[in-house]
Amino acid sequence: MISLNLQEALLYLNAEEVSESQLVSAESFNKLKQKTGKGSEWLGWRTILENPNDALLENIERLAHHIRQEADIFIVCGIGGSYLGAKAVIDALIDHRTGKKVEIHYAGHNMSGTYLTRLINYISQPKADGSKKSVFLNVISKSGTTIEPALSFRVLRNWMISCYGEEETTQRISCTTSAKGGALNKIIDANNYKKFVVPDDVGGRFSVLTPVGLLPISVAGVDIKSLYYGAVSAFQAFEKNPAKVLNYASIRYALYNKGFKIDIIASFESELSGIGGWLQQLLGESEGKSKKGLYPAVHSYSTDLHSLGQMVQDGERTIMETFITVKNPAVNLTVPSDYDDFEGLNFVAGKTFHEINTMAFLGTKEAHVEGGVPILTIELNKIDAETIGELLYFFELACAIYVYNLNTNPFDQPGVEGYKKAMYRLLGK
Ligand code: PA5
Repeated sequence: MISLNLQEALLYLNAEEVSESQLVSAESFNKLKQKTGKGSEWLGWRTILENPNDALLENIERLAHHIRQEADIFIVCGIGGSYLGAKAVIDALIDHRTGKKVEIHYAGHNMSGTYLTRLINYISQPKADGSKKSVFLNVISKSGTTIEPALSFRVLRNWMISCYGEEETTQRISCTTSAKGGALNKIIDANNYKKFVVPDDVGGRFSVLTPVGLLPISVAGVDIKSLYYGAVSAFQAFEKNPAKVLNYASIRYALYNKGFKIDIIASFESELSGIGGWLQQLLGESEGKSKKGLYPAVHSYSTDLHSLGQMVQDGERTIMETFITVKNPAVNLTVPSDYDDFEGLNFVAGKTFHEINTMAFLGTKEAHVEGGVPILTIELNKIDAETIGELLYFFELACAIYVYNLNTNPFDQPGVEGYKKAMYRLLGK
């Protein structure tokens, strides 16, 4: 269950600005529902929740179960929307030190030869008993033509063939791409690799609840049915009563119109930093068009209070902040009492870290509001699969509504082509 607190944002807006913005958001939501807005051919992220496909979930779980039985290492090879959603959910729900039966590694999200070589060195090292590591790989590219995952996949596939032979490699590789088209489909057909399909009407950054995100998330050990149905419940609830999403999108829009240009997505829970990364892409790629849009920046507190905190408190006043907080943490650690108490910290002995973290949040909020920063707070009752599913859909819907408010297409990303064109020219393509 997620709840919303907009009090510290409303301080910066008058009633007229809020109600005007609410009207615009309600109209945007209607456009989504009636499929009359820009890019309405890309609304599959809603239809997959309207008509859940249990057979697909089971199919994914079957392969994930097999991989969990057989693999030491699972490599997720993709970039942008093809890996950020999986990483966000896995980081939120699985303890990376002890929780994973299979180690998850990421590739294809950069073109660093050093990164890839080090990854290959690591997976090439034998296990303690001298046997080879068992490596499985999922390459994810909706277009099937993106250079970063394609190059990494080329290198990793060659390594796998040299390590396991062609036939066994076929059993170890799965691919997630469009139904047809793209170079990846040619590779799949030529090698008979297992394939999952990204629906044509779901864009990359909205694809976490398709096989794009669900296979890696399931391999990591998350119950994908709870995740998925958390999102389905949110879909059903918001279709009936969208007030929560409309309020969030409206306040964000009203603040943007008032001159706030940077939205800091901040959390005091380190498990949520992956959600920040996913959200940064979802918001940034959806709204940053036609010289418009709030710039989404991710801060991890307390760490960033000791670096960027100064800027938030006292820099140029164009910053607003969205906090994602957690009411009930996964673990309650208590501060011990100390006989000498040289640090003078016995006054917090007996309190939990969560209680202290909560005070750090409330203190930060108070200071930032005084410093002129409007604050929106989204509270998760706890971090579990169902709540994360709800949160994913909340942000997808809020993002689409807010971008429609800007009269922009939330579902394309023409700007991403700019660097590609220049790079290919420089490479002499
Ligand atoms: O949201 C998007 O569409 C993009 O971020 C893509 O996910 C990203 O560019 C990767 O594209 P592809 O999956 O086609 O390799």
